[in-house]
Amino acid sequence: MARGELMKKLLASYGRDEEFRAVAEQIITEEEQKNNKVLARSLRKTLDNSARSATPKALAPLIPFPDAANDFIERIEPEHTKNDIVLTNTNLRIFAGLIREFRRAEDIRRHGLPVRSKLLFCGPPGCGKTLCAEVFSRELGLPLFIVKLDRLISSYLGETATNIRKIFEFARKQPCVLFFDEFDALARSRDDVNEHSELRRVVNSILIFIDRIRPKGFLVAATNLDHSLDPAIWRRFDEIIWFGKPDRLMVEKYLRVKFKNVEVAFDPVAQAVLLEGFSYAEIERVCLSAIKTAVLERRRQVREADFRLAVRDEIRRRSGSARLSPML
Ligand SMILES: Nc1ncnc2c1ncn2[C@@H]1O[C@H](COP(=O)(O)OP(=O)(O)OP(=O)(O)O)[C@@H](O)[C@H]1O
Ligand SMILES: [Mg+2]
Repeated sequence: MARGELMKKLLASYGRDEEFRAVAEQIITEEEQKNNKVLARSLRKTLDNSARSATPKALAPLIPFPDAANDFIERIEPEHTKNDIVLTNTNLRIFAGLIREFRRAEDIRRHGLPVRSKLLFCGPPGCGKTLCAEVFSRELGLPLFIVKLDRLISSYLGETATNIRKIFEFARKQPCVLFFDEFDALARSRDDVNEHSELRRVVNSILIFIDRIRPKGFLVAATNLDHSLDPAIWRRFDEIIWFGKPDRLMVEKYLRVKFKNVEVAFDPVAQAVLLEGFSYAEIERVCLSAIKTAVLERRRQVREADFRLAVRDEIRRRSGSARLSPML
């Protein structure tokens, strides 16, 4: 497109963030195609930095929140940034792709192509599903709303179907990341729906709802279950993202992040060998406990002994016994 036309489009999109981004991306792509790599890189950096510094509110104005939903839906202000999360290269690539697609949504739709917007996060506890929803919403510049499905399903029989409709109506209008935590609750309920017709209606309306909705942002569901999840639920998502326990390299990466600003008298990365099979949440507890020991003993540096003691405590906690690993 001619430069003048792009400039006009850019100015016309002022205040409409999605459109603005799409035009800005178009300008950058044109510069890349013209081989103006330095300019393109610098423009992209400016664009990304401005998105990072803007508050979600500035990017996505909030519509009134449905009153009835207050008990099971909550707005979360993201506290963590992408520097706080360790992701595999595959997941980094997937998220970069999703963000790019979201920013170029109009362009993609104009070509008659679908934009991925319904994601399922799977994996064991403490491996970053909730944290990632938070960081993802921040990167997108969208507000994050967490729906506690467990509570929604169990406590509001009678009014639940109406409430669900309200949530989805909200998500249809409000650009946001709508995060369904404990999505397993839905799968569990499907197992015993035969006994309870109201429950069956609730579960079905959530599934129909997910099927039909074209969110303005993203619908993200998180579950601890693996492939045993009902196929009817499985196929409703555009993308399935796995959050596994970290392997040795990922543990090392995580330890580097955790001890970046901490004074140490040992090499934390060399301790990765002790943490095989631990979740990120468990490793985090070990790191914090070791650092706390040094603080309590008024030492400036964390020692290897502090770390090893913390690992021992974590193993004790996991196994429910005082038995110690021979390695420690
Ligand atoms: N990939 C990760 N990178 C960095 N820190 C992580 C990661 N995963 C988990 N953590 C740490 O563990 C804590 C708990 O993680 P999170 O709540 O995201 O787990 P989850 O996968 O949602 O677990 P659950 O299935 O129990 O809900 C985080 O607040 C963070 O401190
Ligand atoms: Mg979680």
